[in-house]
Amino acid sequence: QWTTSSIVDETVAAIREQVGDKRAICALSGGVDSAVAAALVHRAVGEQLTCVFVDHGLLRAGERAQVERDFVAATGVRLVTVDAVDRFLGALAGVTDPEEKRKIIGREFIRVFEQAARDLQAEAGAEGEQIDFLVQGTLYPDVVESGGGSGAANIKSHHNVGGLPEDLQFDLVEPLRALFKDEVRRVGLELGLPETIVHRQPFPGPGLGIRIIGEVTADRLETLRAADSIAREELTAAGLDRDIWQCPVVLLADVRSVGVQGDGRTYGHPVVLRPVSSEDAMTADWTRLPYDVLERISTRITNEVSEVNRVTLDVTSKPPGTIEWE
Ligand code: XMP
Repeated sequence: QWTTSSIVDETVAAIREQVGDKRAICALSGGVDSAVAAALVHRAVGEQLTCVFVDHGLLRAGERAQVERDFVAATGVRLVTVDAVDRFLGALAGVTDPEEKRKIIGREFIRVFEQAARDLQAEAGAEGEQIDFLVQGTLYPDVVESGGGSGAANIKSHHNVGGLPEDLQFDLVEPLRALFKDEVRRVGLELGLPETIVHRQPFPGPGLGIRIIGEVTADRLETLRAADSIAREELTAAGLDRDIWQCPVVLLADVRSVGVQGDGRTYGHPVVLRPVSSEDAMTADWTRLPYDVLERISTRITNEVSEVNRVTLDVTSKPPGTIEWE
């Protein structure tokens, strides 16, 4: 009979065994898996772990603070933040194709992380302590999906830091390899991580970059971040967080719609609410949110976000729609 605390104890012991007195690094994404993996490794080897958080500017409101303040407060982990916002926006300038966006974001992420790892390696090397291990939040379903092998070839999406170059040779530490998502969440709570991190809804690696239909710019990101933050606040206030799988807010940045506000005509942009219910994101149904919640979200977004003058609801299931618009 596996209790959560026995999972933690066994895993911590296994990490100590594997890492010994060597050093490890971990890329934090803001998501549950990397946070719990890092917290376990930190519990096992403490200061031997350094976490790297790449701020690519495509995160939602408050997410950087959640990592820098709340995660660090809960764990005491050593964290290096790399501010790469300008670099990502520069690379995304003029790009509208969804797959192209993904490719660019993935590529830049690896480059930035790689540089951070090299910098840390140089620092550590000067003290005679090379970094030998890379921590990843690979879950059991990921292991099964990719054929059960181990190593870098196994890694399926960029935010798991796949495809590191040959000259950065790390052994992988994957403390969540035997766990399902719900177990990961329980382990996270057991380790004292905040609910906001442990119960965070899925958020794609490319972030808001694939929720702006059209070119990604700083202004558009600011607009989407404001609308998204209102939707999240109202869903949380209505107690609906655990009922929905996720609720992307999508900015139709290249579409303009006419509206009226006060005495004047407006010519702004629509946003789409995409609340979905799902077990595993392979299929999904659109969530029948209460009308009063939809009304509050719509009223607040159109009042508080000046560039948005229309809120629409996506009532497509998956299939035929996907969850994200891009
Ligand atoms: P779709 O849009 O394919 O999304 O129905 C299914 C789930 O995957 C997430 N998603 C991504 N996650 N990188 C990620 O890490 C991506 O490029 C990506 N695209 C979609 C999406 O949020 C949903 O949970």
